[in-house]
Order: sequence, then C-alpha cells, then structure tokens
Amino acid sequence: MVKRYRIGVMRGDGIGPEVVDSALRVLKAAVDQGSESDIFEYLYLDVGWSSYKKFDTSLTSDVLSQLQETDAWILGPIEAGSYPEAVANPSGRIRKHFDLYGNLRPAKSFGFNPCYKSGQVDLIIVRENTEGFYADRNMYEGSGEVRITADISLAIGVFKREACRRIIRLGFEYAQHRHRKITAVHKANVLRRSNIIFLEEFRKACNLIPDVQANDKMMDAMAYELIVHPELYDVIVTTNMFGDILSDEAAGITGSLGLAPSLNVGDRYAMAQAVHGTAPDIAGKGIANPLAEIMSVSMLTEWLSNRHDDSALVRIHKSLETAIEATMTGRQLLTPDLGGSGTTASVTDSVIRNLRASRS
Ligand code: NAI
Ligand code: MG
Repeated sequence: MVKRYRIGVMRGDGIGPEVVDSALRVLKAAVDQGSESDIFEYLYLDVGWSSYKKFDTSLTSDVLSQLQETDAWILGPIEAGSYPEAVANPSGRIRKHFDLYGNLRPAKSFGFNPCYKSGQVDLIIVRENTEGFYADRNMYEGSGEVRITADISLAIGVFKREACRRIIRLGFEYAQHRHRKITAVHKANVLRRSNIIFLEEFRKACNLIPDVQANDKMMDAMAYELIVHPELYDVIVTTNMFGDILSDEAAGITGSLGLAPSLNVGDRYAMAQAVHGTAPDIAGKGIANPLAEIMSVSMLTEWLSNRHDDSALVRIHKSLETAIEATMTGRQLLTPDLGGSGTTASVTDSVIRNLRASRS
C-alpha cells in the first residue's frame, strides 16, 4: 500500500504565498507523473500576518499542535520585524520548539554570476539553528537581548557543547556522502569562552573521522575565502549567526538569493524554508524567483525519502532535481533577479514542462 504523508503548509508573508504556491504546483505536478497521486495531503496553517489578522498573534499554540500531527512542513518567509507584538519570530519559535537543530543551505553555481562558471561551486552550509546569538532561540523565557538603558544593550549568546557536537556530527555525515571535505567556521580567537567549545568538538570529530579532509577557519577569513575560492569548499559547518550570514554570501555567488534553498532538520521533523526573506520591494508583482522555494521543497522530499525509506519519494525527488536543473541550464523564462524577463508563473510552468518532458 502507498504510504501517505501529511505536509503542513505555512505560506508566510510578502512573496511567501507567491513562491510557496509555485512550489506546491511543482510538487503536485511531480506527484502526478507517477502512480501515487495521493501520496501527499496538505494542511494549510496560518502563520505570520495571516495569523495575526485572525488571532492577534503571529503563531498560535494550535498551529504548533497541528504541526506535530504532520510529517513535514513548508514555511514561506516571515516579516517578523513588522509585527505589532513584541514576541519572538515564529520561524525561530518553530525551529526551537521542534528542535530543528540543523539548517542545510546548499549553493551551486550555474553561471548566473559571471565571476563563477557553471559547476565551479558546489557547497553546503550546515548551520546550527537553535542557539548562538539569536535572541529568539537562546532563552527559556524572555529574549536574549536586554536593553539596560536607552543607550546600552546586552546580547546574550548561548553555546552548548551538545548543540555543537550534534551540528558537527551532521556536518561530517554530509561530508561523508559528498566530497569528504569539511571546514568549521568560528571566531574562537575572540569568543574564547564560547566558540572554543565549538572548535574543541570539531577537533574531536576530526580525530574520530579521519577519512574526511578537515580544517577550520575564522569567520572573517571565511567571508573572504568564499568570494575568492568558493570552489575549494564542500561542507561548511558553523554556528547560527555565521551560517546565516555566509549563506546569503553563498547565494550571491550563485547569482541570486532566489536560488538559495534551505531545509531545517531535526530528529523527527523537517521544514523547507528558502534562505531569502519576504522581498517587500517585489512582493505582489509576480516576479519573485520561485526556484529557491521549489528547491527547498525538493530537499524536503529527499529528507522524507531517507526517513521513510520510500522509493516513491526517491522518484519524486529525482524528477524534481532533473526538472529544476533543466530550467536553470536552459535559462528558460527566468525572473529579473537572474537577468530574465520571466515571471514567477513562467518559471513554475517551465519546471512543470521539464517534469513532463522527462517522463515522455
Ligand atoms: P530579502 O531576502 O527579503 O531581500 C533581499 C533582496 O533579495 C531584495 O532585493 C529582494 O528583492 C531580493 N530577493 C529575495 N528573494 C528573492 C526572490 N525569491 N526572487 C527575487 N529576488 C529576491 O531580505 P531583506 O530585504 O533584508 O528582508 C525583508 C524582510 O524579510 C525583513 O522583514 C526580514 O526580517 C525578513 N526575512 C525573513 C526571512 C525568513 O523568514 N526566512 C529571512 C530573511 C529575511
Ligand atoms: Mg538569513
């Protein structure tokens, strides 16, 4: 019997509904190509402004309970800074609540940035997702930022050995399945009591897993290296804020934030969520690049296929990857961020056409 999966869908703010709807059209088309037409069931949930307008809060406890009853989730970008309430960002709260401790952010060059040739860059940033300097993740109650006078604030960073250990383990797992190279990024020269724990755990893992070529770099040096020699890197494992910054930089190398996918993973759940934000400058214009969200959803199908050892999901994932790549290499009807004159709809149609073409 075909196994069915329940997918929680939170469309988010700004361009979120546009790119999430596009990714769902593509996913449904990928499913329709096979014989498992009802493999996914979708549960739409309000998060962000759509929740705020109905319930006066951007994330309800009911949504958290409903997410628990599903297998995996898709989340559009969130404009937390604009909410009237002074609560934590719903995206951070979901990641923390369900312990989605790993944030996987691949970057691959397809020649859209003229400084980097197609195929030259193929790396993945494995970012810690539950602590560090992000105020919405590091306290049981309250936030990790305190403003003690109008002119003085304190920001508390949290770095736990176990959290460092598990993100480094995840980084090594990826390195073993990829090109067997890993770089740990930190700032242990100045953050000598916090980042040093991360570095200690990295060195222990290097001794335990000698078949992976490993080195470590300071964050500032890595920001430079990523521009000058991105082709030398395979897996980059790092703490929360550094991973966030480096992944936007890596997106720039590929040519657009609209090409930067991401998956948040824990031991039980995973959530597709593109790297980019709500892009208020282009929201509602129908020109947002949907590829980052489509690729994030493709990563989600791969995670589900591994977790459930399901060959139907392997087929769906492979067909998505082939169709996405064909759209990019064929430069088909791409959006303005990639120099094209296409729209969100034309890119979506192109991926769907490529899905169909690969079956016929
Ligand atoms: P942004 O990522 O929304 O936009 C930066 C630039 O990239 C803009 O020029 C935008 O038009 C462009 N861009 C982003 N995604 C694109 C896409 N799919 N296609 C074409 N162009 C794209 O970052 P910004 O402007 O700093 O933040 C806007 C809002 O998004 C803020 O409220 C911020 O807090 C929020 N944000 C939310 C995130 C999330 O929920 N995952 C992540 C980053 C920012
Ligand atoms: Mg970011």
